Amino acid sequence: MSIELRIPALLKIGGGSVGEAGKVLAELRCKRPLIVTDPFLHKQGVAERLKKLVSEAGIPAEIFHSTVADPTSDVVDAGVRVFRAGGHDSLVSLGGGSPIDTAKAMGMLVANGGRVRDYKVPRPIPMAGPPHVAIPTTAGTGSEVTRFTVVTDSESGEKMLIAGGVLVPSAALVDYELTLSMPARLTADTGTDSLTHAIESYVSRKANAFTDGLALTAMRVIWEVLPVCVHEPGNRRAREAMMLAATQAGMAFSNASVALVHGMSRPLGAHFHVAHGLSNAMLLPAVTAFSARAAMERYADCARAMGIATREDGDERAVGLLIEALYRRNAELEVPTPKQFGIGEAEYFDKIPLMAEQALASGSPQNNPRMPTAQEIEAIYRACWAPAVRPTVADGT
Ligand SMILES: [Fe+2]
Repeated sequence: MSIELRIPALLKIGGGSVGEAGKVLAELRCKRPLIVTDPFLHKQGVAERLKKLVSEAGIPAEIFHSTVADPTSDVVDAGVRVFRAGGHDSLVSLGGGSPIDTAKAMGMLVANGGRVRDYKVPRPIPMAGPPHVAIPTTAGTGSEVTRFTVVTDSESGEKMLIAGGVLVPSAALVDYELTLSMPARLTADTGTDSLTHAIESYVSRKANAFTDGLALTAMRVIWEVLPVCVHEPGNRRAREAMMLAATQAGMAFSNASVALVHGMSRPLGAHFHVAHGLSNAMLLPAVTAFSARAAMERYADCARAMGIATREDGDERAVGLLIEALYRRNAELEVPTPKQFGIGEAEYFDKIPLMAEQALASGSPQNNPRMPTAQEIEAIYRACWAPAVRPTVADGT
């Protein structure tokens, strides 16, 4: 069977690449773009500078700056109204995963009509939206290169996964200089999201030779440089390496899918307002322990690529070292357990059956090397609450 790959038609990577936004828009024949960003970047003047830059290239742009963390269908609808009222023909998203995901969903509704929930996985998206240039300011969700968007239904509160090749942005400007001012917490969380993308795409049932190379390179780099980015925010070499690796991890998971960590992470984030990278981090070690037996060689490859194990270590030992290292890294990056995060115990345990059901319905757990039942997902949520005993490879049997 052939491998299907979807990546942006144009990628500009490197410090200062955001300066080429006007040129890229002209190449895409965009005449009236709408810049989609969040209130913070708007207040900081970053969106305004982009607007000026694009305008100087002879392309008048406007700004929609009402995106929210964890995009909602209401905000997407509001963005679509602004897009239509302003006679826009293209989208430029500027920010972390939330503005980029918002722009993807806006483009989808502009082209196809209806409501966001009409396109929830596994529903198809028939038509491609207008040209979309994505400019990430975190490293990162990888959303600038992926075929996914995650939008919370404003009515039901469900964090919906929407997937389709037409969601891949037309172009991405990957400029690490935009990440230099990211605070430590955001750096750690978005970076852990990238690490999870790399590991999950490598162990995914949909992994392929193309995504394997990207995933292994990305996890090697992220494991090494993420702590440097957190502790030395101005380290340009580390920021540059992290930004490229986050985009590579994005390309890997967009074409190989994520798996159980992401499937379980979305409901946890939606019900308890945990940042996406943080909820991934809370789950990653325990899910790795649960899954390891079904893909021992693949997880051992990860451990070796990340420099946690050597060729002399057998697979089982390598995977044991990987799980320990993931717990240690969480401690180093001050990742709380759900309990330490401040979630109420009764509320957490009450929600577990619903979260397990929503995790399975998203389709991501079906890509996991070990396919879980609802009961097994519930057990992992319970184990993550405040682990007295950390699960190991042996517990995953
Ligand atoms: Fe993610």
